[in-house]
Amino acid sequence: MMMMMELQVLLCLFALIAAVCCVPPIGTQPEQVHISYPGVKNSMLVTWSTANKTESIVEYGLWGEKLFSHTAKGNSSVFTDGGLEKRTMYIHRVTLTDLIPTASYVYHCGSDAGWSDIFYFTSLNESVSFSPRFALFGDMGNENPHNFSHYKSRFSMPGHTENLWYSWNVGPAHIISFSTEVYFYLEYGLDLLFRQYEWLQADLQEANRPENRAQRPWIITMGHRPMYCSNDDGDDCTHFQSYEWIWSSGLMNTHMRDSGPSTITRCLTGALKSRISTDYGYTRMRLINTTHLYLEQVSDDQYGKVIDQMTLVKEKHGADAWR
Ligand SMILES: *[C@@H]1O[C@H](CO)[C@@H](O)[C@H](O)[C@H]1NC(C)=O
Ligand SMILES: *[C@@H]1O[C@H](CO)[C@@H](O)[C@H](O)[C@H]1NC(C)=O
Ligand SMILES: *[C@@H]1O[C@H](CO)[C@@H](O)[C@H](O)[C@H]1NC(C)=O
Ligand SMILES: *[C@@H]1O[C@H](CO)[C@@H](O)[C@H](O)[C@H]1NC(C)=O
Ligand SMILES: *[C@@H]1O[C@H](CO)[C@@H](O)[C@H](O)[C@H]1NC(C)=O
Repeated sequence: MMMMMELQVLLCLFALIAAVCCVPPIGTQPEQVHISYPGVKNSMLVTWSTANKTESIVEYGLWGEKLFSHTAKGNSSVFTDGGLEKRTMYIHRVTLTDLIPTASYVYHCGSDAGWSDIFYFTSLNESVSFSPRFALFGDMGNENPHNFSHYKSRFSMPGHTENLWYSWNVGPAHIISFSTEVYFYLEYGLDLLFRQYEWLQADLQEANRPENRAQRPWIITMGHRPMYCSNDDGDDCTHFQSYEWIWSSGLMNTHMRDSGPSTITRCLTGALKSRISTDYGYTRMRLINTTHLYLEQVSDDQYGKVIDQMTLVKEKHGADAWR
């Protein structure tokens, strides 16, 4: 009798596991929902994927008001992974426009064949006097395979540059993200290098026009592999992932505070191991205003303790600073 009961329990358990693990995934259900600011004022872009072709709809509304008072439609494109399985998925994109700045919105995405969970976001404050805060972290994984096809197809970054490089404005800054990877995977051709160079030159010229620089004096660039570092990692600064400051093109392992450098300042973060401690961590950046930029290094190992901080003060920007 005892045996029977145990067996029954065991069988039930197996049935349960079978029910949980072996139901085929519903191919019309949204997955990988993410949002991005498309670089166009008062808008937000929702991107997700489904295994089967479905409509691309976002239902949304202001937080605290009638649920899903607005509907926006977009479209999808088919993406086939370059791997052995040649997995196919549909990438959906819907742009929400005419949003009220700094307002919280509730949304879900999908179609009548399947809706995502309910999420929320706060739209961007478009004022140049806005003081944005950022989290800076290193190495989200290596996505170079198949000519960067995952980057190109599955993200939705500002501009029309296949998501490999892009720029956008926020508060008093023009922020540029460029690809350092195109220099390391030359098997995909030199075309990407030239295209990025030309794009960057034009982007910097535009950002540096006097009327633009007056509003957004900070020009901040970011990339995966640092151009310089003081660690002993051959020709690649990324493997010993460190946190350090590089000043006026010199290499220094000290943390400079309250100084007015006249040239480019570089910050290397990601900190798998940091220069100033052996902690895992990331950096928080706050653009206070047109002259003050604050950064602090956070230790994961010490439960979020700030282990280094600095304020970069820059009274002069642009060509004036070099004179
Ligand atoms: C849904 O997608 C899967 C995987 O791509 C495919 O095998 C299946 O035939 C599709 N079903 C429909 C109804 O299109
Ligand atoms: C989706 O819509 C965008 C914006 O309207 C358009 O540029 C793009 O070509 C469309 N893509 C497809 C696959 O229809
Ligand atoms: C945007 O930020 C600025 C500067 O902090 C603030 O004065 C303004 O009220 C904010 N705008 C909105 C719509 O909250
Ligand atoms: C890689 O993609 C770029 C466009 O993003 C294209 O110009 C280049 O020819 C591709 N290279 C290969 C080897 O397919
Ligand atoms: C920027 O903020 C700092 C620190 O709060 C302040 O001392 C400085 O006067 C501000 N600069 C401008 C141009 O508002």
